Amino acid sequence: MVKPKAVVIIPTYNEAETIGKMIKYLFAKIFPLIKNWQMKLLVVDDTSPDGTYKIVQQLQEKHADLYLYLNPKKMGIGYAYVVGFKYAMEKLSADVVIEFDGDFQHPPETIPVLLSEINRGYDYVLGSRKIKGGSVPEGWGIKRKFFALVGGLVARFILFFPSKAFFKITDPTTGLKASRVKGFVDRMDMDHLYSKKFGYKLEFLYKMVNLGAKIKEIPLKFKLRKVGSSKIAPDTAKDIFHSVILCRLNDETTSRFLKFSVVGFIGYLVNAFGLWLFAKLGFLEGFIWLLATELAIISNFTWNNLWTFSQQKFTKSMTILKKFLQFNLTSSGALVIQTVMGTLLTFLFGTQYRQLYLPLIIVFMVLPYNWLMYNRVIWKKKAS
Ligand code: GDD
Ligand code: MN
Repeated sequence: MVKPKAVVIIPTYNEAETIGKMIKYLFAKIFPLIKNWQMKLLVVDDTSPDGTYKIVQQLQEKHADLYLYLNPKKMGIGYAYVVGFKYAMEKLSADVVIEFDGDFQHPPETIPVLLSEINRGYDYVLGSRKIKGGSVPEGWGIKRKFFALVGGLVARFILFFPSKAFFKITDPTTGLKASRVKGFVDRMDMDHLYSKKFGYKLEFLYKMVNLGAKIKEIPLKFKLRKVGSSKIAPDTAKDIFHSVILCRLNDETTSRFLKFSVVGFIGYLVNAFGLWLFAKLGFLEGFIWLLATELAIISNFTWNNLWTFSQQKFTKSMTILKKFLQFNLTSSGALVIQTVMGTLLTFLFGTQYRQLYLPLIIVFMVLPYNWLMYNRVIWKKKAS
């Protein structure tokens, strides 16, 4: 039986002091432990001025499974991984790709652990410094620890809140990962990354999550760097922030939610305008409210159909009519929620806070209710 292939990618820039030791250690001590995988090592070097690639070239004479991809100049870690992933898939027919650092901050012993989780059926295995058994270096000052913690939380929040991934992924900036190729990396768009630097990590993460990868975290004891220096530039935090914001803003669900909110706000304005108009026309109080509300419902239905859910837009007049009636029904549901909750809150806490209850009920109950109904009932995607 042919073994599946796992390619460990190490990007390097000025790692001459450790890369030789790392390569020897992996081939002598780690890869032999891994029985059911064919292991290959790919170093992506940016023609490091300290001659890192020359050490790799020398070692290639001894190790048939050692590969080197040489970029002509410093291109950034993200770029190194993009060309590395492509090379691993196209030239080395990788089934799994592992992201790994060349400076011994990632313990090599984690590589067999990553692969055993892949064996168990996970598609994306991440080394986490935040779960039990994982840690950041003791030597890190309180300031660095704090920034790593806050940075990670902010990135998590922007990328995933409130989806499941927000709660599941504890260390979004981690550099230690194993990714399944079939169905995931081979479907990932790597040509449109916002960052060629460290921000790429969050973009890969985001894309893997959206591809529906089954995710598992393993503990990572992140070591102190003993030699050489970190390539993390002062603008890294900005780069990561920029990447996560753009990922999220261009996310289909988020932009749909923003449109839904705008339409909702327009609905409110239409409602207010209706109250004014029908009062001016001298209608009875009950009719003023009824007509103004219906006007808002019509506005919401129309704009959501044409804009928010344009991909599932109804065009046939019979369907429009049927859906519009359904829409009135779910809207009455919202009205019931608002009436019941408003009455209940007033009963519990008094009439003096009425103007506070309304926005609270809208934001925490009516909005989620409408969002759910629109997505799951009215503009439900047809199973394809
Ligand atoms: N080819 C190439 N080009 N390699 C690079 C470049 C580059 O421009 N910049 C960095 N590298 C390589 C380094 O030589 C090293 O092998 C690896 O990428 C990680 O870089 P470090 O400079 O050691 O990063 P770090 O240890 O400070 O950052 C760690 O934490 C980050 C955030 O939590 C790493 O684990 C990162 O992977 C992680 O994202
Ligand atoms: Mn490092």
